[in-house]
Formats: sequence, C-alpha cells, structure tokens
Amino acid sequence: MAFPQSFIDELLARNPIEDVVGQHVHLKRSGANMFGLCPFHGEKTASFSVAPDKGIYYCFGCHKGGGAINFVMELEGLSYPDAVRSLAKRSGMEVPEDEQYQSRYRQQERLWALHKEAARFFHSQLYAPIGKSALEYALGRGMSKSTLTKFGIGYAPDSWDMLVKAMEIKGYTRQELIDSGLVTVSKKNGNIFDRFRDRLMFPIIDTRGNVIGFGGRIMNNNDPNAAKYLNSPETLIFNKRKNLFGLNYAKKSQLGYLILVEGYMDAIALHQYGFDCAVASLGTSLTEEHAVLISRYVEQVVLIYDGDEAGQRATRRAIPILEKAGIRVKVLQMRDAKDPDEYLKKFGADKFRLLLEDSANRVEYQLSAIRKKYDLSVDDQKVRYVHESAELISTLGSSVQREIYGNRVAESAGISFEAMKLEIGKAYKRRLQQEKKAQEKIDLTPAKNLQPKVRTIRYDNMKSAMAEEGAIAMVLQDPALMDKAKNLTGGQFSVPVLGKVYDQLLAMHQKGMEVTLAALTELTPEETSHVVGICQHREGPVNETAFDDCVATILRTSQASSITSDDDLMKFRNKLKESKGTKP
Ligand code: CTP
Ligand code: MN
Repeated sequence: MAFPQSFIDELLARNPIEDVVGQHVHLKRSGANMFGLCPFHGEKTASFSVAPDKGIYYCFGCHKGGGAINFVMELEGLSYPDAVRSLAKRSGMEVPEDEQYQSRYRQQERLWALHKEAARFFHSQLYAPIGKSALEYALGRGMSKSTLTKFGIGYAPDSWDMLVKAMEIKGYTRQELIDSGLVTVSKKNGNIFDRFRDRLMFPIIDTRGNVIGFGGRIMNNNDPNAAKYLNSPETLIFNKRKNLFGLNYAKKSQLGYLILVEGYMDAIALHQYGFDCAVASLGTSLTEEHAVLISRYVEQVVLIYDGDEAGQRATRRAIPILEKAGIRVKVLQMRDAKDPDEYLKKFGADKFRLLLEDSANRVEYQLSAIRKKYDLSVDDQKVRYVHESAELISTLGSSVQREIYGNRVAESAGISFEAMKLEIGKAYKRRLQQEKKAQEKIDLTPAKNLQPKVRTIRYDNMKSAMAEEGAIAMVLQDPALMDKAKNLTGGQFSVPVLGKVYDQLLAMHQKGMEVTLAALTELTPEETSHVVGICQHREGPVNETAFDDCVATILRTSQASSITSDDDLMKFRNKLKESKGTKP
C-alpha cells in the first residue's frame, strides 16, 4: 500500500467530506445528511448526498460514491496518489512519499515539461526560415498571427531528428522521449527519430493548461497514403477519449454553451471569429467521458458536424451520449459549406451567428432527418413518415412539445391533427407495452436484478453475495461485530471485491482506527461506488442475529466451494467412505 493507513486516517479527519464537496457543490442539510446537485451528471433535483458522519458521498441518480479522496479523483480527474497530495496540500499536511508513486508523478511532470518544450520548439520553427512554407500555409488558411500565438501553432520540420536533438540538449533522456510518443523507435536498429515530420502542429492542452499531445496536419499531398492528420499516441499523460481540443479556452467562455465540432481547424476558426466556446474531439468519436467532462462546464451543446453522411451518423450517435450526461443538445446543420471553418471564411461571423441562432433542438433535427427519408408524394411513404415521426414524438415528456411537433408533422403530411394525435397515442401505448414486458422479464428473474450495475463485478453465488453485502453494511455501522466473527476473513467471500473491502475494514478496526469506506484503497472508482451504494441502500438497525446469519452463509458457501480441486475431491470422498466404513 502506498500511504500509511494512519496518514490517510488523519488526512480524512482534516478534510471533512462536507468541506471538500462543499467547495464545489452547494449543499443543504436535511437530517443527518446533506444534499445538492450532483457534479458528475447534469440534474435539476438534488439526488447527490453527503453523509458527514460516515465521511462519504453518494449520488442516487448516477450511483457514483466514495470518500473525500474518491471525490477529488473523480472531480479533478486525478489518480489516487495525486488526489491524496491535493487534499494534503489543502490541509497543510506533509505527504510521506512512496517510491513508486513518487517516480510515476515525477515521470508525468517530466512529460508535461517535455511537451511544453516541444511545443515551444515547434512554434519557433514556424517563424524560422525552415518553416517558411508552413507559415504561408497557416496564414493562407486564414489563421491570424494572434491565433497562431493563442493556440501555439507550430511546425515540425522535414527532418528525422531535429526534435530529438533539441530535446536531448534540454536534458531529456531517450526513454523519456520514447514515453512521450513524440518519437518512434526504428525496428531495424533501435534508433529513435521524430514522429512528426513536415507537419503543421496543433498542441493539445488539457484543462489545467498542460500540453499533453499534438495533432499534426500534412501540408502537401506528395504521398497519397499519408494520413491528413497524425495524432500523438496514448501516453501516460494523453488519453484522447478524455480530452477535447480547445477546452482550455472554451471553459472560460461567457457564452454559456459549448460548440462541438469535428476538426482542429474548425475549432480554431470559430475562436478566431469570436465563438470562443468551440471544442473539437481528437480524431475519435465522442465518448461518455467527453460528455461528462463537458457537463462540468455547461448544460448545453451545439453540435456542428460536417454535412456529409459520416457527420450525420456521428451526430445521431452523439445526441444520446450527451443527453445521458444531462446536456441539452442543439444541432446546427451545415449548409453551403463543408464545415464551420469553410463557412466562416465564405460568409463571415454574422451569417454564422444567424445559422447558430437557427440551430434546431435535437427533436427538430431528428424530425427533419426522418422527413428526408421519405417521398411524401407517395402515399405509402407518407404513412411510414407519419408512423416514424409519431414514434419519436411519443417519447417526449411534455404534452406541449408533443402538440407542437405533432402539429408540424400533421401539417407537412397533410393530415389532421386529430389523426396525428391518435397515431402518437398508439405509439405511446406500444412503447409502454414493450417496457412492461421488459420489466416483467426482469421481475421474473430477480437474481438478475441484484447483479451489480458495474460490469466488472459479477455475483456468481447470489445468496452468499447478499450475505457479504449485509455483513459489510453492518460492520460499518457497528465495527465491534467483527470481534464476534473471529473466523471470518475476506478470503472466504465469494465476491473478491467484497472480500478485499472486508479485509481492509478489519485491518482498520484492528489498528484501532475509524472504520470507514472513505479510507478504502486499491479499488477502482466503479468498485468504490458500488460498495458505497450497497451501504446507502442497506440502511437500518443493526441486528446481531442478522449478522450471525450472514457470517454463517458466507462460511457455508466458502466451505462448499473449496472442494474444487481433484485433490480436495478425493480427500472428501475418502472421508465419506471412512465415515461410512466406521458405521456398522
Ligand atoms: N482526423 C484525424 N486523422 C485523419 C483525419 C482526420 O485524426 N486522418 C481528425 C482530426 O482531428 C481532424 C478531424 O478528424 O481535425 C476532421 O477531419 P477532416 O474533416 O478531414 O479535416 P478538417 O478538420 O476539415 O481539416 P482541414 O480543414 O485541415 O482539411
Ligand atoms: Mn476543414
């Protein structure tokens, strides 16, 4: 374990959960607990709870939970040791550093520094004689000098080792260069050479201001096989599923929403034309992590993907991902230009602003997408158009919305609103029926219901798993129960994670420390949330008999399943024979 338990114990004591959370969430007290709006998913009613006496938080909406350390990890995207460091700093404590963690953190810091140096190097090359044509290309694409500076645009020279050399002079080692992903290793002789050559360079900067990677655009088309854009590979500091280009600036925008586009050039052009809330994904489709990241800053996103089929597909995919994170989605359909970059250059900012104001909410967008599929002069297609639209409209929660959009579809199909209303009602009933059936199926297999939502945890023996959940929930309320169950250890649990948790709680108790979920270590955020969730859902008086029952179930299951190896089986059989043999 990285940090001594006693240190973590004091850290938690000095950083009360309500203070740590309270810095980010407005909490209102209600009985022993406090409630506020969950910072991890968008919501309007407070389902995020903090239990000061237990040192934990739990969201009944998105099921995230943990202690103060987990909260900082989740909210600031920090690793466990970095979250501990952050809390230590907050409360003026000195951190007893563990070798391994220290070296990993140092490694990260070196990579950030290396990337910053590399960005400086590329930027300076843009203004060196060698970068003449790159500068011309950048200016030719309409980037102003101040945009080049703001985004730190650079040039990677057409050379095998200019970056390597420049970084070696700055004291970076071969290994550090390899770890940064800025070089490639030759399979032939093991030499390292620059990954980015003769490309216009876009530094990717995280929300804390660190350069964490690059995108590089090719400028001439000599090699038809070369990718237009080359991006940094995944490294210790770069994960493209979790970062967005331009968010370091967009998060400070006063506009109150984000514009999400496909390309670096689109985001940069938007900023230059005054839309300082633009971000781009990094050559990947939008991920759930992106959506959660976005939801930390805004509640609304305008999607502007390219007008082609790929862009439309990406739009359809992105809508539910964003909505799941509680974000309202609008869609701007590109017209008369391939992408925002091209549009701004052709028509200017004012025209674009009109387009933006006109951007449809996602229902309008989806309705118009359905509309495009059918030829309404053909009766049969008209029927299918009404049918499909009614299906979509029936999913809308508000009757006002259903009436407005229903009217619109009725008008375009040339039918009465009454007929449309009927159609929407039928679609609604159909869906209810389907949902009911699905629910019945779940109800008939209750065991399925009890399976953890977390995919990495499986309950193979449901009876024992329930007993294990119960035992953990009870010892948290009354640690002295553990003294009674002397022969119970985590090793006997059927669910490894729960066993691990029990062992840690037992260790806390035996060392005379507070027994709390807030001090758990070595669990993933999902595992922590799951365990906290168990305890939040299993409140109630502790009952010694109930605890004894749980322990008995766990031990019985563990003994039964321990007869698994052939060896054990043989012994077991022999024993059986013996006992039979002794009987007359
Ligand atoms: N992309 C990528 N790798 C490629 C092509 C594209 O990573 N081989 C990513 C880049 O992030 C790029 C985005 O997808 O910015 C959009 O690609 P595309 O529409 O082809 O480029 P544009 O942004 O229009 O770039 P440009 O205007 O420079 O042609
Ligand atoms: Mn473009």
